[in-house]
Amino acid sequence: MKIDIIISADYIRKDIIENKVVVVIDMLRATSVITTALMNGCKKVIPTLTIEEALKLKASIGEKECILGGERKALKIDGFDLSNSPLEYTKEVVEGKTIIITTTNGTRTLTSCLEAKRIFVACMLNVSAIAEKLLSLNEDVVIVNAGTNGQFSMDDFICSGAIIKALIEKCDKLELTDLSKTALLSFESNPNIIDFIKEARHYNVMMSLGLINDVGYCMKKDITTIVPEYKGGEII
Ligand code: MLT
Repeated sequence: MKIDIIISADYIRKDIIENKVVVVIDMLRATSVITTALMNGCKKVIPTLTIEEALKLKASIGEKECILGGERKALKIDGFDLSNSPLEYTKEVVEGKTIIITTTNGTRTLTSCLEAKRIFVACMLNVSAIAEKLLSLNEDVVIVNAGTNGQFSMDDFICSGAIIKALIEKCDKLELTDLSKTALLSFESNPNIIDFIKEARHYNVMMSLGLINDVGYCMKKDITTIVPEYKGGEII
């Protein structure tokens, strides 16, 4: 079982992901939002690349059933119901609803992985559940970090390390690329991941916007066993 990492959406290549099991991470915050919404009982999450696509989709599915969420520049989009804060996706708000979400990096990354065989959605909230799923499949895996505006992002990278750590604890037959080994070492040397993440650019953007509670929430490891999968245009 080979584990490789793609460091940001700009580096996704068809020949690397085609027919592979892919795990998409945008821990601050898109994949944490998606995981939380599903954990709190939403029907499905539909990622869209653009705001226009999201609005059109809501109009076609129906106002009552749908919630529009996401961000541009980390802020709520005009006319949308929710921002990209996982804390807004409570059971009371999302249960039984279809969430249509568009974000700068997370949904762009998801929609760029369509050539993969399977696409799972990961964050710190579901590290162990994702690892269990991957072990049960026993296939080569490409962990795709969303990154930030095409650039490498420390937060997604250490989350990849957390998943790899959970994998090696249960399997001694992993083949790690140098990137995967570095992600693992980053996680092992920073058991309190905040010490690592606080150096990240996107962490500091979150702080400057007063989103400390979102960041604190997204760091929580293994609060759910949900393993969201993106297939047929929907995450369930
Ligand atoms: C994204 O998808 O670009 C991020 O989740 C941005 C954010 O944290 O709002």
